[in-house]
This record gives sequence, structure tokens and C-alpha cells, in this order.
Amino acid sequence: MKLLISGAICLLSLLASAESVNVKRAVPKGFVTTRGADFELDGSPFAFVGANSYWLPLLTSAQDVEATFQQMHDAGVKVLRTWGFNAINASELAGARQSNLTYYQVWNDGDWTLNDGPQGLQRLDNVLKIALKYDIKVILAFTNNWVGYGGLELYVDHIAPGASAHDVFYTDPKMIASYQRYVKTIVNRYKNSPAIFAWEMMNEARCLGDLPSSSDCSAPLGTLPKWYREQSDFIRSLDPHHLITTGGEGHFFWKNPAFSSDYNFNGQAGEDFDLDLTLPNVDFATYHMYPQTWYPQLDFPGSNFTVESWGLFWIDAHANAAKKAGKPLVLEEFGVTGEANKTTIYPSWVGRALDTNHGIMPWQFGALKLKEDGGNRLIKYADALIDGASPNDGYAIYKNQTAIWDIFTNAAKLQAARSL
Ligand SMILES: *[C@@H]1O[C@H](CO)[C@@H](O)[C@H](O)[C@H]1NC(C)=O
Ligand SMILES: *[C@@H]1O[C@H](CO)[C@@H](O)[C@H](O)[C@H]1NC(C)=O
Ligand SMILES: *[C@@H]1O[C@H](CO)[C@@H](O)[C@H](O)[C@H]1NC(C)=O
Ligand SMILES: *[C@@H]1O[C@H](CO)[C@@H](O)[C@H](O)[C@H]1NC(C)=O
Ligand SMILES: *[C@@H]1O[C@H](CO)[C@@H](O)[C@H](O)[C@H]1NC(C)=O
Repeated sequence: MKLLISGAICLLSLLASAESVNVKRAVPKGFVTTRGADFELDGSPFAFVGANSYWLPLLTSAQDVEATFQQMHDAGVKVLRTWGFNAINASELAGARQSNLTYYQVWNDGDWTLNDGPQGLQRLDNVLKIALKYDIKVILAFTNNWVGYGGLELYVDHIAPGASAHDVFYTDPKMIASYQRYVKTIVNRYKNSPAIFAWEMMNEARCLGDLPSSSDCSAPLGTLPKWYREQSDFIRSLDPHHLITTGGEGHFFWKNPAFSSDYNFNGQAGEDFDLDLTLPNVDFATYHMYPQTWYPQLDFPGSNFTVESWGLFWIDAHANAAKKAGKPLVLEEFGVTGEANKTTIYPSWVGRALDTNHGIMPWQFGALKLKEDGGNRLIKYADALIDGASPNDGYAIYKNQTAIWDIFTNAAKLQAARSL
């Protein structure tokens, strides 16, 4: 009960201080801004289809990075989302050097050291340099809710060894300071670059991760809204010009009892989409969409929704919330597995997103004809180049899958026509 009360006070103070929403900033040429629910670039509307590619900075061949951007450019991609983090444990260092893995942070004894060498941030420098050449702007995430490529669990393991909850990350002052030291490093390195579309606080922040959530973390307790508020204000203090967003999956905190047992709506995940969107330095909203894995009961007899119709419901819910807040919206990850599923479901999702003024970023871009190591290389985990094709987790979209590819290249043309 005590916790609930302090949570309520904290939410009120968040709301009270969110008055400066949508103040227009004067920015250097080539920086993206917002005007109400629209993005703008140099004074013109900027509507886009984008691409997700976390593996791009993990490529070791500059020619392959260039080839990937060329393929994105040819597909009409205007925005790339990738990881601005790649962290390893010191115990992984020897293997990382040997396999030419990209790493920016090495964790040891409660702290991390920066790698800004040729296997480190110089690879990210190169990605941003080539992005500029192909007229593609980049969303960079500072860390991961999940363990892949070095997320929160590394901060927790090293700063509070033995901690049993994921969400200590959001409140432990040492972890916040450590995260901010990394954020500052990246922001200062690229803050003058027109290659950056936006800074993203975290990929898919939740109360739980690979470690469980404690009972101190939830949307009603305000944990993530408070963290988003602090970090977005911190980033703004470093960089007055680039856009800032959450990188969240778009969980709601709806008081409607019909949704009280649904994780995407009951506040248990930690986000409060409507509240997060009112924060003064959250410039636009993101959300993700994987109904096939979130709701195994969809498409079965007796279910009220198909995968397709639930997706439309989720798109509409976010479009309505963003409209109310008067800020732009990006469907920044979504997917279904299976080529037939993609071919039948994506047209209606993409159509609805286009109709409701979204930026659209499918998970994930597929590049072909990559040449490093003869087109075959194990990157890390199960991520591999196979016969020149970029990693495929079942969601990758390659150009040879013509029917699926065309859905997005056609959408890109429509978005480009709106950007004139
Ligand atoms: C490692 O990557 C660099 C590019 O960052 C490349 O020049 C070098 O040839 C690679 N080394 C090996 C052994 O593959
Ligand atoms: C990092 O290494 C430590 C031991 O050095 C280990 O306890 C921990 O599980 C590792 N964390 C991750 C996320 O791999
Ligand atoms: C379908 O919706 C009704 C009415 O909201 C609800 O009572 C029922 O539990 C739902 N069925 C399923 C399978 O979700
Ligand atoms: C297509 O979607 C259905 C329904 O979600 C799922 O059961 C099936 O496994 C999917 N097909 C593939 C190849 O992933
Ligand atoms: C398209 O390319 C991918 C990756 O190389 C391959 O797995 C797939 O079989 C190809 N599909 C077609 C229809 O050629």
C-alpha cells in the first residue's frame, strides 16, 4: 500500500511537468523534427518505410556494409534502426578478438571499459558514414532489455552480482550512472551528425528480462515512466537537437477490467504508453507487434481475433493514443513467421499503418550477396551469414521473396509521395 501511494504521487508529478510538449526546436540542416503528429525534414513532411538491422555494425567487411545500404536504398528505405550497443563480458574477450566480433563495452569487475578501436566504435562510425552517403537516417538504441548483444543483465550482473530482479536496473543509482556514462559517450560522439534520426533509450524496456521482475516494478508504480523521464531529460541535456524516443513495445496501462489479465494492457510489463508519450523529451512513440508469439490462442476456434485482426486492433489502439497526444508514431518492429503468413497478413497491417500516419519498420531487413568469409560466417549466438544472406530468425524479408518485398517497396513509394 505504501508503495502504491508513492507510485501515485510520482505519476501526478510526471503529468504536472509535461506541459512543454511539442515545443518546436530550431535544428541544423538534415536533422529530423516533429510537427504535431508528423515528422519533418528541412521543413518538409517526412513519412517513411524503414528497416531493422541489428547485424549491420557486426559485419566486418566495409564492402558488405556498403552493399547492404545500397540494397536498402534501392528498396526505398529512409530510416534504419540498429543497436548502438554491443557489450561483452571480459570472459568473452579472447573469443571476440578471435572471431572479429564487434564490441563497444567490455564488462569486468563491476564496470565497463570502452572499445573505440577498429573492432569497436569505429565500425559504428563507418555505418553512420555510409548511412549518410545513402541518405538513410539511423535510430540508435543505447541498450537492450534482453541479454542479446549485451543488455541490462550485464549491468545487473556486474554492479549488483547475485541480484535476483531485472528491474533493479531502473532504480539503482550506480546502474543509472553507468548507463548514463555510456549514453554520454555515444551522444557526444555523434551529436552533430545528421545521420542520426533519433536516440532510443532502450530496446523493449520491461520490468522483466532474462531475470524476473520484482514486485516493485509496474506501470501503476510508475517505474518505467519515471526512468524514461529521467533518461530522456538527461539525453536532452547533452543534445538539444536530435529526437528522442523510448524504443518500447507500446504496452498500455488500461484500467478497463476486460483487459485486467492481459499483459499488454494491464501495466504489468512496466510501460504506460499514454503517459510515456506525454513526457516532454519523448518526441515520438514506438511500439512493436508480434501477436503470433504473444497470443498462441489466436487463429484457433473460439478466439475473438485472428493474428491479422488482433494486429489491426493493436495498430488502431496506438494510432488513437498518439493522435490524442499529438505526437508522431512509429511501428518500429513487427512480424510473423512463414512466407505465406507474411504474404497474406502484411498488406492489411501495412495498409492500416499507412492510413493512420505511421512510420513503418518491419523486423527485419534481409540482405543478399554478402561476401565476407565467402558469404558464410557465424556472428554470435545463432546469427550467421549463410550463402551470402544476412541472419534470418524467421522474420527476415529478402528481395527474392518478391510478393513480400513488393509490399514494402510499394509502401515506401507512397510514403515518399507524401514527403514532397
Ligand atoms: C576483422 O575486421 C576488419 C574490419 O573491421 C577487417 O579489416 C579484418 O580483415 C578482419 N580480420 C579478419 C581476421 O577477418
Ligand atoms: C557475465 O560474466 C559473469 C562472470 O564473469 C557471469 O556471472 C554472468 O552470467 C555473465 N553475464 C552474462 C549476461 O553473460
Ligand atoms: C471473446 O470475447 C468475449 C467478450 O468480450 C469474452 O467473454 C471471451 O472470453 C472472449 N473469448 C476468447 C476466446 O478470448
Ligand atoms: C503461420 O501462422 C500460423 C498461425 O499463427 C502458425 O501456426 C504457423 O506456424 C505459421 N507458419 C509458419 C511457417 O511459421
Ligand atoms: C531467397 O534467399 C534466401 C536466403 O539466401 C534463401 O534461403 C531462400 O531459399 C531464397 N528464396 C527463394 C524463393 O529463392
